[in-house]
Amino acid sequence: MPRFLEPPDAEFRKLNDSIGFDWRLGPYDVEQSRAHVAMLAAQGIISEPDGDQLRRGLDQVQQELSDGSFSFLDGDEDIHMAIERRVTELVGAVGGKLQTARSRNDQVATDLAMFVRAHAYEAGARTEALAQTLVELAEAHLDWPMPGYTHLQRAQPVYLSHHLLAYVWMLFRDRERFRSVAGATAALPLGAGALAGVNFDTDRESLAAQLGFLAPAPNSIDAVSNRDFVLDYLAAAATCATHLSRLGAELVLWSSEEFGFCELADAWASGSSLMPQKKNPDAAELLRAKAPRIAGHLVAMHGVLHGLPLTYNKDLQEDKEHLFDAADTLESSLAAARGMLAGISFNRERLLAAADDELLAATDLADLLVRRGVPFREAHGVVGSLVRHALERGTPISALRPEELAEQSPLLDHEAYAARADRAPLEAKRSQGGTALARVTEQLAQAREELAGALEGERGPGSSGAGEAGAPATPR
Ligand code: ARG
Repeated sequence: MPRFLEPPDAEFRKLNDSIGFDWRLGPYDVEQSRAHVAMLAAQGIISEPDGDQLRRGLDQVQQELSDGSFSFLDGDEDIHMAIERRVTELVGAVGGKLQTARSRNDQVATDLAMFVRAHAYEAGARTEALAQTLVELAEAHLDWPMPGYTHLQRAQPVYLSHHLLAYVWMLFRDRERFRSVAGATAALPLGAGALAGVNFDTDRESLAAQLGFLAPAPNSIDAVSNRDFVLDYLAAAATCATHLSRLGAELVLWSSEEFGFCELADAWASGSSLMPQKKNPDAAELLRAKAPRIAGHLVAMHGVLHGLPLTYNKDLQEDKEHLFDAADTLESSLAAARGMLAGISFNRERLLAAADDELLAATDLADLLVRRGVPFREAHGVVGSLVRHALERGTPISALRPEELAEQSPLLDHEAYAARADRAPLEAKRSQGGTALARVTEQLAQAREELAGALEGERGPGSSGAGEAGAPATPR
């Protein structure tokens, strides 16, 4: 008599089945199963002919998954069951040996670690590519003055290159975080069995080596319960997406008529269905809005793991949609940011006109007094009152008469007029990391050096996820 006398309720299946999304793990699952079969045969746990049969079935499944001909059946609960079912159809009862010394618990954790590793490398590579584009833009706009802002109020002039490079350093930190995410997938869950280990003389070292893991996870209980690498990926992705949202927000502002600092390429903007004159920065707006979605996935995943008793619980199935959507969203945001910037054109005159606002040199005037021995706080007051005076009179500071300056402080002489001359406020910021051209040039060289130490080509062995993209969107 079977263990269950009734088939699962349709509503239960709707809630419980994961095939609708975990089909994406197919290529990782096949790769893992190949290594597993090789290990089982090498250890004499299954015979070589059985191993060959299973490999033949897996090869066929891989083919079907990648060319889209794999047919998912109504009874397939998840990708692991679907693959085992298909292998058994292809090679007969020996297909039932695929799950020898393995549980779906260590299997799914392994697939997921492979997925996270592949996508951590992908995010790293895309982060790198975006940084490269920004470095090139900075180079092309090295000495273009613009206003720097605090509180979105014009504060002090900076070079556009300096502002663009700010994003490059954020992206380098992102790249570093994705490296560390890949490192968090180094311990192999496979071989942990359901939770306690398995009753066979397996070789987990060889599995680890075949699948690109550093070593077997040392504790089978932790191995099947651990999803830290998912949290790590989501955290890194949320931070990176937050950076992109700030970039997106600036592009929205800058491309507006009010700022007029830049124009997006036609290919990266959309028109209005009603107003013929409109050119909307939709991609930039979406960069802005996608970030909280990824942060939401991170919070949700903390919710899934919070207070979860060891070891495997079905709650863990809920890790996938958060992870998959975060990876898709982040990867397309990184690509869009790059595409948008590659086609952007900046408006030198508008930037310059905004930077030319002479109130932006107020700090420089105060510092002139400081250099003459006035304590900074006092100098701040003097210039503040000078600014008020000029605003009340409706005259720029540079048009005030020498007596008016002297009224505020006897130390404000003709040199006050030079404090903002030309690019004085920009070129006076010679402190390390500052906006003076020599410093930005230095910074650019440093960024180039960072780029040269690239992640490029550094894809973990195995787990390429090849074919993941080729799977059908709705398998059943
Ligand atoms: N679909 C499941 C998941 O995604 C696979 C593991 C199922 N294990 C189990 N003991 N029911 O988590």
